[in-house]
Amino acid sequence: MEKQVLDKSFVPYLSKADINAAIEKMAATINADYDGKKPLFIAILNGSFMFASDLFKKIEIPAEISFIKLASYKGTKSSGSVVTAIGLESDVFERDVIIVEDIVDTGKTLSEFLPQLMHQQPRSLKICALLHKKEATKFPIQIDYMGFEIPNLFVVGYGLDYNGYGRNIDQIMQIKE
Ligand code: IMP
Ligand code: MG
Repeated sequence: MEKQVLDKSFVPYLSKADINAAIEKMAATINADYDGKKPLFIAILNGSFMFASDLFKKIEIPAEISFIKLASYKGTKSSGSVVTAIGLESDVFERDVIIVEDIVDTGKTLSEFLPQLMHQQPRSLKICALLHKKEATKFPIQIDYMGFEIPNLFVVGYGLDYNGYGRNIDQIMQIKE
């Protein structure tokens, strides 16, 4: 059924069952890949809160989770915005880190954040993203665990927002063109 979020209409795209099945698969792969390890999941707020919660419940190995916000501000250099992490309390040094993102769009956010994290010398660093808009790529990011590759169209729901709204929709909906 069609849904209105602020001034835009959205149509169903990925159902609860679709999302759940994709998360089951990702979690099973992570459980196998990290067998014998104690990974640290770092979920990027706000968008990934629902995904991180559902994924983490399916992780069966000993694991920690921490939540951060990435704030962009205008840098002093001509390169434009700079991303900084707020709220990372856990020590990343020599940890097996898994970044949890709702969606990778242009790749800009992660392409700025990952090198900063690498400075803290994690033992390993992998990316888990529920959605990837491959056609929108401007900054290529290697996604190690991915739910769905989606077309370059705006989506809301399951934590993803349109101007702050729509995060509470329990499925993923695509903008109606
Ligand atoms: P990137 O830096 O261009 O990869 O953008 C990543 C961020 O933009 C995501 O973490 C989302 O917060 C936001 N974003 C990108 N595409 C969408 C979308 O279709 N719906 C909602 N948020 C989006
Ligand atoms: Mg996000």
